[in-house]
Amino acid sequence: MQVVTTVAEMRRLRAQMTGGVGLVPTMGYLHEGHLSLVRCARAENEHVVATIFVNPTQFGPQEDYQRYPRDPERDLRLLEQEGTDVVFMPEVEEIYPPGFDAWVEVGESLTGRLEGAFRPGHLRGVTTVVAKLFNVVQAQRAYFGQKDGQQLAVIRKMVADLNMTVEVVAVPTVREPDGLAMSSRNSYLSPEERRAATVLWRSLCRARELFDGGERRAEVIRREMRDVLASEPLAEVDYVSVVDAETLAELETISRAAMVSLAVRIGSTRLIDNVTLAD
Ligand code: PAF
Repeated sequence: MQVVTTVAEMRRLRAQMTGGVGLVPTMGYLHEGHLSLVRCARAENEHVVATIFVNPTQFGPQEDYQRYPRDPERDLRLLEQEGTDVVFMPEVEEIYPPGFDAWVEVGESLTGRLEGAFRPGHLRGVTTVVAKLFNVVQAQRAYFGQKDGQQLAVIRKMVADLNMTVEVVAVPTVREPDGLAMSSRNSYLSPEERRAATVLWRSLCRARELFDGGERRAEVIRREMRDVLASEPLAEVDYVSVVDAETLAELETISRAAMVSLAVRIGSTRLIDNVTLAD
């Protein structure tokens, strides 16, 4: 496995690769969710490139950029075990040199709601860095987790509307045995908060149970999910939402694939999760 830190080195290695290249963009502090992305990339491509970059432009001024967990040595060990060929691990100045001032932004209809409403600028930071990584690595396929459902929809839209040639591959969310979606931010939770955090999954399971029982009124599903969340005193809800899985428009009635998502603060840790409901 080769580890490179500059765009020039990454391009040089890329130029030597023949056959399919799979890209796994990450912010490091890897867990099983990331490793499942790498495994999918490994199975489908001749070469696997992973990136580790805690992207400052996707964090708001009051958010956790400084304290975001980092453990590059462990990350490199895990990536090597999974058969990664190249890890691109740039410093911030390599991606955002002095004077950097070009942004890639998907329109408000996809980015003005959900995470975009609660984290202004977040999705613009994501699309900008992902577009840069696509340009540098020139992969045939790029792998993203379904846990960040809106991120995935926004990246797909960027790729389609800007005629990017990379294929975006969505990989199912990996969960702890009690249902909590794997996330680097789970490491912030105290033992008591970790127990409380299972309420996100319980709320999503309630949504699925209602849907499987024939309920199609989105407002009923949202209300019942909120009732589950209200049973957990440590949970503060940012949003509970039932949207069209592609347009992210809030639904009244579920008549096509819907993404049910939520963002909940447990203490000072903000967690997100979602499931797709489809007939
Ligand atoms: O999902 C993430 O970890 C990040 O948003 C990504 C896609 C690596 C961009 O920084």
